[in-house]
Amino acid sequence: MNNGTSSLQFPDGFFWGVGTSAYQVEGDSVNTQWYEFENGGGIKTGDRSGKAADWWNNAEQDFDIAQNMGLNSLRLSVSWARIEPEEGVFNPEAIERYRQMLAALIERNIRPIVCLHHFSHPVWFEKKGAFLSKSCVEDFGRFVKFTVTELYDLCSDWITFNEPNVYALEGYLEGDHPPAKTGRPVLYFRVLGNMGRCHAAAYYTIHKLQHDAMVSFANHFIIFTEVKNHMFDRLAARIASDSFNNVFINMITGKKVPLLSSLLGNCDHVRDTWDFVGVNIYGGTDVSFDTTQPGMAFVRRSDPKGKPTGDPDPGGKAMFGEIYPQGISIVVDKLAKYNKPFFILENGVPDKEDKLRPWVIAKAVRTMYDLIQKGYDIIGYHHWTLVDNFEWALGYSMKFGLVEMDPMTQQRKPRPSAAFFSEIAKANALTPTMVKKYVPEAMDEIFPKYKDHK
Ligand code: BGC
Repeated sequence: MNNGTSSLQFPDGFFWGVGTSAYQVEGDSVNTQWYEFENGGGIKTGDRSGKAADWWNNAEQDFDIAQNMGLNSLRLSVSWARIEPEEGVFNPEAIERYRQMLAALIERNIRPIVCLHHFSHPVWFEKKGAFLSKSCVEDFGRFVKFTVTELYDLCSDWITFNEPNVYALEGYLEGDHPPAKTGRPVLYFRVLGNMGRCHAAAYYTIHKLQHDAMVSFANHFIIFTEVKNHMFDRLAARIASDSFNNVFINMITGKKVPLLSSLLGNCDHVRDTWDFVGVNIYGGTDVSFDTTQPGMAFVRRSDPKGKPTGDPDPGGKAMFGEIYPQGISIVVDKLAKYNKPFFILENGVPDKEDKLRPWVIAKAVRTMYDLIQKGYDIIGYHHWTLVDNFEWALGYSMKFGLVEMDPMTQQRKPRPSAAFFSEIAKANALTPTMVKKYVPEAMDEIFPKYKDHK
């Protein structure tokens, strides 16, 4: 293992990329439930998504940036609402535009990964009850079959759902995303059970159309740590993990959790419908057992004190608790027994001034390197995100981009992290010179033996 000061060289063909999603970058996503949510005043900052990063007209300008950075992978999503604006009616122009985008990526030697549902969907589907409706498997399946049939000559990596756990949490427990219901745990689990069945049906449909496809979903992981090492706080951490991190994973691996599994419905068909583990990871939070919180299953979350958090949200809160790229190793270690490759599909930090982001990148890369040295199969890393974009209910307030983007002028200005990530991607390695240049204060942490060699 490399503990010293030489470069951390990655295996040939490792994927260095960025993650994006349709609603957050395309602009004018009028037929979606999110657009209605905006119209109804759902965005806390009062922002409107407007042109977003203008990808519907000109994604290519950002693909050029990605190419110049030396990236070889880009994760984007297609908008169901553009492709099937009315139930059962497909829009060939939308498909044509997505074909152009995928071809434009391939021309630039960037491998596209397509996500089929990243939080937004058509208004007609929302009106039917979305993933609570009886026909959701059929509806989602029809869209998937059409879309994959039209695009599979240009893409072979598919993500059915982005973060079903976040979709259900925000929509049915916390109420910050449409349909903005709060405190509805039974609905939360029903939605997740139905999404599991939609995912499984889509998995088999895609494989039928494309035998060598790689299909999975992107799971959001939060590292929950008990405040005190005693039985009750450990129980709180377990409840939090089982009801957030592990719901989809348990459906896929066939693990039954007392009480929770019965709320999901029959998931037999969902078992083993993944070709890789899709990991989205940002942060960690402390948890304790709190008898005054029955509505939250007795779990109290608190942000670790004195830890890196990134920019506060407009309400003054840390969006992800402690920013915790090293959590990648906890997730990989835990799920390695399923023998699937790992794809880090999202990792990042809201950081307008780019103070913490270089450390996040360096720490994530060091963590992945150490895991690969230990024999774990990690095939790629996607930073969230390429250019600043529309951060859901927080509008344009949170800046996740490697590249700064002003939604009013559409002007782009790379942050130092863009150059850092580009150097890593081009070298397929992290070197001490890069760390000294972009994140010198973390030199001893990223290259632990550096101290001895000084
Ligand atoms: C979502 C992204 C979002 C990012 C930052 C993830 O949970 O998939 O859409 O922009 O977090 O909040």
